[in-house]
Amino acid sequence: MSNTIIAPSILSADFSRLGEEIKRVERSGATWLHFDVMDGHFVENISFGIPVLKSIASSTRLVKDVHLMISNPIKYAKAFIEAGADIVTFHYEALESEEEIIEMISLVHDLGKKVGISVKPKTPIEDIFPYLGIVDMVLIMSVEPGFGGQKFMTESIVKVLKLNEYKKKEGLDFLIEIDGGIDDKTGPICCYYGVDVLVAGSYLFKADDMKSAVASIVLKND
Ligand code: DX5
Ligand code: ZN
Repeated sequence: MSNTIIAPSILSADFSRLGEEIKRVERSGATWLHFDVMDGHFVENISFGIPVLKSIASSTRLVKDVHLMISNPIKYAKAFIEAGADIVTFHYEALESEEEIIEMISLVHDLGKKVGISVKPKTPIEDIFPYLGIVDMVLIMSVEPGFGGQKFMTESIVKVLKLNEYKKKEGLDFLIEIDGGIDDKTGPICCYYGVDVLVAGSYLFKADDMKSAVASIVLKND
């Protein structure tokens, strides 16, 4: 049994049958559900938001892993938590100052939920080192955020290595999640280099057998 957490991204689900798609995730062995929120401002695309999360949250016990690709996460974090988010991840690039970043992290913690910080591919991982002692998770984007179905950027593995090295050196405790282009080739490589949570959208949802697809993206004998 693998220790890697799998978070299927419902961005790639068939929205006309969302309830059945979530049941398919539950049967696949995945334990998290990744929820990609896009505002058409922080990223080019627009996806879905609070009412969709609320109806999903009432129908599943999967961990609701909410990835906010939005410009003003401080304004909306509480509403996403009230709608059922278990983990709220915001983008480092979406906030303007250290004070705002600390405010966002405290806001989520004060509401009793876990918080993640995410970096886009071009942002140096060292930029978020000052916050690693106070977050629960780091989400490394392995594609430019905004769309599913893109190719995995291999450079993101270097960020995983640097993060893990820093985590060990400082004795910190946070999860490392990776998001974008994860399949049966890239997933096991990420696991090998120390990723804890794999987000996968198109690869899992297009599979006829999601359970086998989930098993194929983790490192065997992990
Ligand atoms: C991209 C999203 C991802 C995306 C992953 O902006 O954050 O979660 O849905 O999709 P795939 O696995 O298709 O790259
Ligand atoms: Zn995502």
